Amino acid sequence: MVFKRWIVGGALCAALLVAAAPARAQDDAQSDPSRLAAALNQPQLVRLGKQVYDRYCVGCHGAKGDGAGVAARWLDPKPRDFTRAAFKFRTTPSGTLPTDQDLHRSISRGVFRSSMPAWFLMAESEKVAVIEYLKTFSDRWSDPDEYEAPIFIPEPPEFVGEPASVVRGKELYGLMRCFNCHGDTGHGDGPSAPTLTDDTGRHIVPFDFTSGVLKGGPGLKDIYRTFSTGLDGTPMPSYSDSLPNEEDRWHLVSYIVSLRGSGAK
Ligand code: HEC
Ligand code: HEC
Repeated sequence: MVFKRWIVGGALCAALLVAAAPARAQDDAQSDPSRLAAALNQPQLVRLGKQVYDRYCVGCHGAKGDGAGVAARWLDPKPRDFTRAAFKFRTTPSGTLPTDQDLHRSISRGVFRSSMPAWFLMAESEKVAVIEYLKTFSDRWSDPDEYEAPIFIPEPPEFVGEPASVVRGKELYGLMRCFNCHGDTGHGDGPSAPTLTDDTGRHIVPFDFTSGVLKGGPGLKDIYRTFSTGLDGTPMPSYSDSLPNEEDRWHLVSYIVSLRGSGAK
């Protein structure tokens, strides 16, 4: 009996795994995205993208791309509504569209602390195609005014993580009033925290720097990017104007990393 249950359980797990693992496209052998993009015209890419979307994304993001897939009601945070075309993880300035590489990064890494899976096994061609398909959900993508060049993110300098840099970073954290939301000690419990909502009106919690995995990625450059361009659709602002000095931005990264209990790069 126990054995039988074990077999049934095993079979179920296997079935789930098979269902969850993104099947590789037949064109895997030639999965260089530029080769594929060159081989397919735009309508063909969008058609392939729709197939990928309908197979892997529709359950959460919905057939209309509005984030209202069948699973959405159980999820928090909610799946992104692509009809608004507001994206959190961008190298581009606040309020503008992300680059294809930004979308590619989010799709490949997934979004930590959310149900958005990491599609690292998906064929490159499928990623390129699904990105083109996502763009069909909003007119913003056909308006040239919605695009801006990505910001330049330099390699982290040697001083990141050093005590003097952490001290200066802490000062900037105060000056920029990050504590209003993230709290004096970075626990995500600042005075504004209880009142924050995202653009859909749902309560949103500022990140607790002392624990948990960063949604936008664990690297120093990811942290630098987050406060340089902001997280569109959320109250997390862009500090590109108020923190124009590159060195200051790295000091702030030093302080945030120190809150995470590690000075490692
Ligand atoms: C199990 C549910 C689920 C599935 C399946 C899913 N997503 Fe998501 N996705 C989410 C959630 C939830 C978020 C929002 C995360 C957040 O706001 O922190 C999200 C966010 C995103 C974002 C936004 C990133 C940003 O910068 O704001 C993109 C792009 C995305 N998903 C693409 C896809 C694609 C493409 C697929 C299919 C290959 C897919 N998702 C499948 C749940 C899902
Ligand atoms: C008005 C409120 C507010 C202020 C001020 C604010 N933040 Fe945030 N921040 C947020 C919210 C809300 C989130 C969570 C967004 C999410 O989970 O989608 C966040 C998330 C973050 C993240 C984590 C992103 C991730 O990858 O998970 C970083 C890093 C960050 N903020 C840095 C800063 C820094 C540095 C400052 C000051 C220069 C600052 N924030 C000021 C509201 C704020």
